[in-house]
Amino acid sequence: MLNPGTTPAGPGPSADLVASSLTVIRDGQHLSGGYVACPSYPTYRYAWLRDGAFCAYAMDLHGRAGSADAFHRWVARTVLAHRNLITTAVHVAAAGAVAGTMPPTRYTLTGEVEADVGAWPNFQLDGYGTWLWALRDHLRRRTHGAAPGGSVLSGSVLDAAGLVADYLVATRHLPCFDCWEESGDRRHTSTLAAVSAGLDAAADLLDRPALAGVAAELRADLDARHLRGGCYVKHDATDAVDASLLWLALPFGVVAPDDPRMVATAARIRADLVGPGGGVRRYLGDEFYGGGQWILLTAWLGWYRAVTGDRAGARSCRDWIDRAATGEGWLPEQTSAAPQDPAAVEHWVRRWGPVATPLLWSHAMYLVLDHALEPRAAR
Ligand code: BGC
Repeated sequence: MLNPGTTPAGPGPSADLVASSLTVIRDGQHLSGGYVACPSYPTYRYAWLRDGAFCAYAMDLHGRAGSADAFHRWVARTVLAHRNLITTAVHVAAAGAVAGTMPPTRYTLTGEVEADVGAWPNFQLDGYGTWLWALRDHLRRRTHGAAPGGSVLSGSVLDAAGLVADYLVATRHLPCFDCWEESGDRRHTSTLAAVSAGLDAAADLLDRPALAGVAAELRADLDARHLRGGCYVKHDATDAVDASLLWLALPFGVVAPDDPRMVATAARIRADLVGPGGGVRRYLGDEFYGGGQWILLTAWLGWYRAVTGDRAGARSCRDWIDRAATGEGWLPEQTSAAPQDPAAVEHWVRRWGPVATPLLWSHAMYLVLDHALEPRAAR
């Protein structure tokens, strides 16, 4: 029997887009286990920890544990292959500095550090925290039998988790680039939330309670420096919001979705960042492809609305995404239908080509939203 307010998960745009999303993510997974950010956009032919962790999470939700398993193994192998880089970063950070080469936010699909690592704003902590969070979620599902299939992860995955946890503990106070790979001189709210959630996950996985203590300190820090008038802000030196603040509640759980601080933050995101028709922008003043409406953030707002009981609102977010899909069932990174800065659209098209399509992370968040609305039987 259906729960009140649910709609049958029959064929239709959503069901089709679920199927094509699973295909896009499956096809975008390299034999190594790494997920490409976007197969057809040269700048994104790398595997990001952040994008990949959410792809693995979405595949787990939709009964594709083997795909998630392969991703987590890939991260573990990659991280352990670069142990020296990570331990050097830990030692240098202990002296309050940033090593010349920090562990990168993205690797090649076969797990190498790209040749010109300095050409990309690679020092970003959130992907490492998100990986630890996604790894624990994956292992919990496996333990509870909710996601059968695939093989059991080995001890080397836990070695890698320990190395990453040590790295996050050592670097957590350093400013770094945010999840949009910008503003490297700030401490970003969603980054700190990802680090806190990652350390909590590692405390549990590795039975190291001290890591949970560090995570709690970070949460206290968020409340002390990243709240203005009861609302979380983008970073420690602004009063503005950023749509990535939704991550504080979902999935990182540093604050409950119905906590008044989160409710106030979500209300400001809706007031400031929802564009015509209902798509969500990253932040005011974004100029990347003119600062359009992002698929993955619209899915995030829908997820938040579903979890807080606004199922009609969640469905309207999913409908907006359905309309943004191409005829092949592909989702772009953003739509340029109503840019904040129309003149900037052409600049980015000339520089890097048309908006990245299909973006695996957009598809992953669509799958997450769809699952929040109506869990479908594994196909
Ligand atoms: C986004 C990142 C993302 C990367 C790959 C960048 O433009 O800002 O959040 O990880 O693309 O998808």
